[in-house]
Amino acid sequence: MKVVYCQQPNQFLEREEEKPVPKEGEALLQIKRIGICGTDIHAFYGNQPYFTYPRVLGHELSAEIVEINGESEFQLGDYVTIVPYMECGSCVACRNGKPNCCVSLQVLGVHTDGGMKEFLAVPLSHLVKVNDISLDAAALIEPLSIGAHAVRRAEVKEREQVLVIGAGPIGLAVMKFAALAGAKVIAMDINPERLRFCQQWAGVDHVIQGGKDALSELQRLTNGDGAWTVIDATGNQHSMNEAIQYVSHGGKLVFVGLIKESVSFHHPDMHKREMTVIGSRNATRADFEYVISCMEKDLINCEALLTKRLKLTEVAQQFTEAIDPRTNVIKVIVETE
Ligand SMILES: NC(=O)c1ccc[n+]([C@@H]2O[C@H](COP(=O)([O-])OP(=O)(O)OC[C@H]3O[C@@H](n4cnc5c(N)ncnc54)[C@H](O)[C@@H]3O)[C@@H](O)[C@H]2O)c1
Ligand SMILES: [Zn+2]
Ligand SMILES: [Zn+2]
Repeated sequence: MKVVYCQQPNQFLEREEEKPVPKEGEALLQIKRIGICGTDIHAFYGNQPYFTYPRVLGHELSAEIVEINGESEFQLGDYVTIVPYMECGSCVACRNGKPNCCVSLQVLGVHTDGGMKEFLAVPLSHLVKVNDISLDAAALIEPLSIGAHAVRRAEVKEREQVLVIGAGPIGLAVMKFAALAGAKVIAMDINPERLRFCQQWAGVDHVIQGGKDALSELQRLTNGDGAWTVIDATGNQHSMNEAIQYVSHGGKLVFVGLIKESVSFHHPDMHKREMTVIGSRNATRADFEYVISCMEKDLINCEALLTKRLKLTEVAQQFTEAIDPRTNVIKVIVETE
């Protein structure tokens, strides 16, 4: 089978290997689609912290079950996606029903080899059936679930004002699920192209161009209240430090984007608001199932997100071109055949 390794920063290498043999409790999957996300791009360019090479990337996957070793509800030929977060099952987070933030979490395609290959053996416990949606859509469940999880963490309510900062794939998902929860969604980004896209794709109520007039624009749109919930999906330190100013008194600030540095703000600004600060990491099976239910109801335009397709055999040569932001790419998807 073909396997594409990220051999070292800036280099993919295709190799031939034996198909893996599934252990007890595992299924052998024939990988169909692999979504590319920011983590993969950081890994490729060598700026993902604590990343080791060589590594097979790929954690946004759709696949067909071709072999099962053990008892399960699955059948050969089932289409599945994978919950790629491998938890320990016994730490304090796992014991409290939060495997998404397990103390020793191993993410497939990040900490261990992922799905940029033709066949992959994975624990049956981490598979989710997706027989009623397309293989393209199924590869989007993971990144969309990150957004759904942030909206769930924020407990977004109907008619609530929600400001989402950052209109990349993660922010777009946050906007969409906040809108589906009935919120009034305002999107902010510094990239006008991304703002245009989110307005059509996520059905947000207003967009704000990030910059010096952003606060007064938000105040104008909210009668001076600010946003009850602000969700930052930028991965930008400056934005995360400044996001507090947009939060209503009594409201909350959710960080779904992540950075390697510290976030800091003036404590009186937090105190006077009695502001809640919430982290949002990964997603859970419940988020995956919610996203699938939205896809089955045709509430999400998956195809519009997939702005560039590559074959597995083209990754080594065409990756940098495919992810070039100048092409206004939203998401690259790799097909194995
Ligand atoms: N919570 C999680 O578990 C999880 C999972 C996956 C990704 N992420 C993180 O989510 C973040 C977003 O991911 P993405 O793939 O959508 O990234 P992206 O880079 O495609 O999108 C970020 C967007 O933020 C905008 N932006 C940057 N600085 C800004 C600023 N100061 N003001 C307004 N907008 C600004 C950019 O123009 C861009 O459109 C990243 O930090 C990523 O690491 C988190
Ligand atoms: Zn991802
Ligand atoms: Zn754990």
